[in-house]
Amino acid sequence: MKNVTLTVNQKSYELPLVFGSEEECAVDITKLRSESGLITLDPGYANTGSCRSKITFLDGEKGILRYRGYPIEQLAEKSNFLEVSYLLIYGELPTKEQYHDFAKKIRSYSEIPKQMKEMINIFPKGAHPMAQLSSMLGVLSTFYPHLCDDNDKNSNEKNSNNKEDEIIALLLSQLRVLAAYIYRHDRELPLLEPLEHNCFCASFLTTMFGFDNNDNNTVIKKALDLTLILHADHEQNCSTSTVRMVGSSLASPFSAIVAGIHALWGAAHGGANQKVIEMLEQIESEGGDHRQFIKRAKDKNDSFKLMGFGHRVYKNFDPRAKIVKKTCDELLLELGHTDPLLEIAKELEKVALNDSYFIEKQLYPNVDFYSGIIYRALGIPTNMFTVMFALGRLSGWLAHWREMVHEGSKINRPRQIYVGTPLRSYQGGEIECAKVCSLHNLR
Ligand code: ACO
Repeated sequence: MKNVTLTVNQKSYELPLVFGSEEECAVDITKLRSESGLITLDPGYANTGSCRSKITFLDGEKGILRYRGYPIEQLAEKSNFLEVSYLLIYGELPTKEQYHDFAKKIRSYSEIPKQMKEMINIFPKGAHPMAQLSSMLGVLSTFYPHLCDDNDKNSNEKNSNNKEDEIIALLLSQLRVLAAYIYRHDRELPLLEPLEHNCFCASFLTTMFGFDNNDNNTVIKKALDLTLILHADHEQNCSTSTVRMVGSSLASPFSAIVAGIHALWGAAHGGANQKVIEMLEQIESEGGDHRQFIKRAKDKNDSFKLMGFGHRVYKNFDPRAKIVKKTCDELLLELGHTDPLLEIAKELEKVALNDSYFIEKQLYPNVDFYSGIIYRALGIPTNMFTVMFALGRLSGWLAHWREMVHEGSKINRPRQIYVGTPLRSYQGGEIECAKVCSLHNLR
């Protein structure tokens, strides 16, 4: 079958079907409006494909997640964040040489402009790290005007690929350093020079915590690598779609990524990791009784949601959540830590998974239900959790931005159904004008 037929008021329209490489199928409605005058309505884009993409495959019913065809479970076990970033952005796993060059290029951009190091002091103590991160990234763009303008349409392919590679390396490198500096600024600690190291996580941890690059931190580096890999991409989620949306207007990649950071910050998206821990802490401070929270989450008249539960796409289980939960146990064991919040989280999960409300609505723990326990064990403060998510997701944002630029996307511009007041005639003018003028002593 190549087409479907839509019949409206006895008139039929042939709409082509589009097939993906994993038997996904979509109705192409591109010409629907010009032929029939109709648009489609899909609030929250819950059932709308906004693009064709070769980056990530996700099957929410079966709980499958693959980056460029590789199962997330294999990448989480065997790869590292830098290799996964290369895979997502450039489409294939790097050779040894390509990996080395990629790491070297990222290292070469780790120096933050001096003025920005001074500028970080303008942020008041306690300012949210996500607000600081997005502001700093906006400022960073002012130091790289040649990477912001889109006026080099006539430049050859080699030049524009070089420019793209520069943007990718710069952002991957500097977001990491900025995150570490935001942490240190808030604690009034001196800013440290980034470690010249091939390992992305080792460099980050050194710049943030001042760790020595010794073997004792292998467990911590591995856990951090894993969380970054798991958060690296998730196809057309809210922040990635935002990056594509903003990028489609030919805004600079800096602007697109800043917009992605803002979208990620929301509690329904990446901000959930902070909210989960705050919820678990509240349960703990109230004596560990989670029943009130389950009751509130089920109450239609209460806006409270069980944070870290539910997902737009996963209606079975989130494969990332399984990996994160296992890693929490292993990490705490290896570090010799205990965390009472992990026990509360496990108990909460058990209760929710056996509750008819959560079963009927297919609500399962998502990646962020347990990720905060890992960050806590690594010594990362709760208000930095979403920044950690952004560090991982940056590689996915860049992969989608690059794909969009290469595919030559049209500007993203959805339609709407207007439900406001129909045409009416404006009455007034003179009176309103007189009021405004007298307010400004203009008469
Ligand atoms: N607790 C209680 N009820 C929930 C929850 C929850 N965590 N999540 C969804 N529901 C209920 C909704 O109230 C709704 O009920 P209704 O059918 O009676 O109206 C039903 O389940 C369907 O939920 P929607 O909100 O319509 O689903 P949607 O796909 O729009 O939202 C979302 C998904 C935003 C993730 C939602 O489940 C949520 O807010 N979860 C908590 C926040 C969270 O953990 N976000 C992280 C998501 S993963 C990520 O971005 C990395």
